[in-house]
Amino acid sequence: MTARDVSAANVILTAGAQNGVFATSLCLLEAGDEVIVPEPMYLTYEACVRATGATLVPVPVSRSRAFHLDYDALEAAITSHTKVIFFATPCNPTGVVMGRTDLERIARLACEHDLWVLSDEVYADLTFEREHVSIAALPGMAERTVTLGSLSKSHAMAGWRVGWAIGPTTLIEHMARLALAMLYGLPGFIQQAALTALEHKAQIAAEMREIYQRCRDIVFERLHRVPGLHCLLPEDGMFMMVDVSGTGLETVDFAWQLFARKACRFSMRARSAKRRMGSCGLVSWSTRRGSLKRANGLRIS
Ligand SMILES: Cc1ncc(COP(=O)(O)O)c(C=O)c1O
Repeated sequence: MTARDVSAANVILTAGAQNGVFATSLCLLEAGDEVIVPEPMYLTYEACVRATGATLVPVPVSRSRAFHLDYDALEAAITSHTKVIFFATPCNPTGVVMGRTDLERIARLACEHDLWVLSDEVYADLTFEREHVSIAALPGMAERTVTLGSLSKSHAMAGWRVGWAIGPTTLIEHMARLALAMLYGLPGFIQQAALTALEHKAQIAAEMREIYQRCRDIVFERLHRVPGLHCLLPEDGMFMMVDVSGTGLETVDFAWQLFARKACRFSMRARSAKRRMGSCGLVSWSTRRGSLKRANGLRIS
């Protein structure tokens, strides 16, 4: 997954990538540290960072840049307290897949300022047009990167709660001690299921990618023609950011209108914070394709 050599000493099993985010935060951070995260970000990052006493420093990405990171803004956010740069690529919620050049810029900053990188790659197998690149594979990055993955997306096994963190051996040793206190190991039958899933990874992930891509195409095709909505074609996964400002509605009101229309077979989560998402809502197609096809066109009143 990281396109570099790893041994067992570089890997720890976690109860999903979420558990990996929390465990990495606890091992790397303490009060006084700052963590830079592109915003909008995956919704649990903030709590994980704050639980350690560290400060989250959001770097906004805007729709005008198609939600791609502004690297000058990222660099400007670095202070003497910065400890980690957190990001997800492919990204939930923005649907952006970072290219090699983007990751090289982050890598350069991390090396120059001696920072850790937490790279959340749970959607690595679900990129559509762009190839996934793992920052840990870039020169000088393996020793300062924690790469998170899981079977939740590639194998639709979110309920099994199985994932992993890959990092330098010293950090993984700390995480193993934490995992002992936190989990006392993952159940054996879950590990066996994970092993079987990984043995068939190429085929399963390819099938999942095809399903998600078709769903994305259906959703985009339906929504981008709706007056008042601005949709950006996501490069991965099962989410699309939709700017609803052209409808004159707040995202929450827009979402409630969708829920109220029984004809809509999908739901729109306005996700907690206006601060985080601005006028954008998040459309998910983690549903059966048949129900997407039956969904009626939307008219916003
Ligand atoms: C970006 C991102 N990171 C982490 C997670 C958590 O994944 P897991 O089910 O492996 O804990 C999710 C789940 O939606 C996610 O979207």
